[in-house]
Amino acid sequence: MGDMSTRPRISARISAIAESATLAVDAKAKAMKAAGRPVIGFGAGEPDFPTPGYIVEAAVEAAKTPKFHKYTPAGGLPELKQAVADKTLRDSGVQVSADQVLITNGGKQAVYQAFATLLDPGDEVLVVAPYWTTYPEAIKLAGGVQVDVVTDESTGYLASVEQLEAARTERTKVLLFVSPSNPTGAVYSREQVEAIGRWAGEHGLWVVTDEIYEHLVYGGAEFTSIVHYLPADHWVILNGVAKTYAMTGWRVGWLIGPKDVVKAATNLQSHATSNVSNVAQMAALAAVRGDLSAVDEMKTAFDRRRKTMVRMLNEIPGVLCPEPEGAFYVYPSVKELLGKEIRGKRPQTSAELAELVLEEAEVAVVPGEAFGTPGYFRLSYALGDDDLVEGVSRLAKLLSEAR
Ligand SMILES: Cc1ncc(COP(=O)(O)O)c(C=O)c1O
Repeated sequence: MGDMSTRPRISARISAIAESATLAVDAKAKAMKAAGRPVIGFGAGEPDFPTPGYIVEAAVEAAKTPKFHKYTPAGGLPELKQAVADKTLRDSGVQVSADQVLITNGGKQAVYQAFATLLDPGDEVLVVAPYWTTYPEAIKLAGGVQVDVVTDESTGYLASVEQLEAARTERTKVLLFVSPSNPTGAVYSREQVEAIGRWAGEHGLWVVTDEIYEHLVYGGAEFTSIVHYLPADHWVILNGVAKTYAMTGWRVGWLIGPKDVVKAATNLQSHATSNVSNVAQMAALAAVRGDLSAVDEMKTAFDRRRKTMVRMLNEIPGVLCPEPEGAFYVYPSVKELLGKEIRGKRPQTSAELAELVLEEAEVAVVPGEAFGTPGYFRLSYALGDDDLVEGVSRLAKLLSEAR
């Protein structure tokens, strides 16, 4: 016993992982709901639409087909890999072969495996803050060192080449590029993408580009893949079906890159999870081979909700909300409200304010602490129009009491 009892129960590597703050907020909101409280949740990052019928049908067919009851290649079904390669030419404008594609268990596994494959201990990764909560953990697990490039509402949360250059050292290996962004909804213009891409190429950096929100851009904004401006063998694209086809629960994503990187990441996956569920892969095949009419319909609704939300939030004294051009999130500053009195409490941080909002207004938002920039809230507008208006009205009523 003696020796064993002095050893930590949980490894240092895994103890260091923080709980996903977005899932934690969602869980708390769901628990309050289950207890009968009328909570409105702006926490979750998923479309409120069901998966289109033709995709579900493809899964039903696959479930009835015995060959899909068996193991298949760890890297994914060959026809899905080819369809992803074709789709990547259509949407990102880059020619890749099927053996440059690895099908993963959601975009999240692609994120994890990309960093695990590229990073050695001490390698630095430039990450624009605010950033999505999963990136720091994936980088840390790989032994990488995250270097934040902090942006704020004054630039619409966009980083400049000058800022990136100031953060670069001789240990910088990777730039993580995410446009449209979670949590801010920021979208870089073609010129900005080109400037950042050329800068990364000049300095021999790898670029890991998360393109999962590529089809969710509004107004005059357009999605530009940074790979256009990069040397052929120094980038990895992360993507998946979750957001474009309302398929968050199906768990299909992918990683695309040079053949050696994809081979190495496939080796890792072959020991961790083997192939993604064949039924889900066949559903993803129907999605990726099909057209974009489903996402176009969702986009119309998201765009309407985006405008309503930005307008209503900016009407609240002390809330400053830049208009996002992509994804389905807004990221208002609540810094002016901190330290003020609301219902007998004086929240000093956005985390405390979010706590108060959940208790008093029964509205769930994710505080900026989760994304590396305290002083902000992230609200998803992927929920029904009526709930959205009711939720922001409750938020407005409560925050207007700040003195
Ligand atoms: C920026 C970004 N990348 C990747 C993902 C991963 O999505 P999934 O694992 O559901 O495919 C998400 C999901 O929230 C995301 O916001």
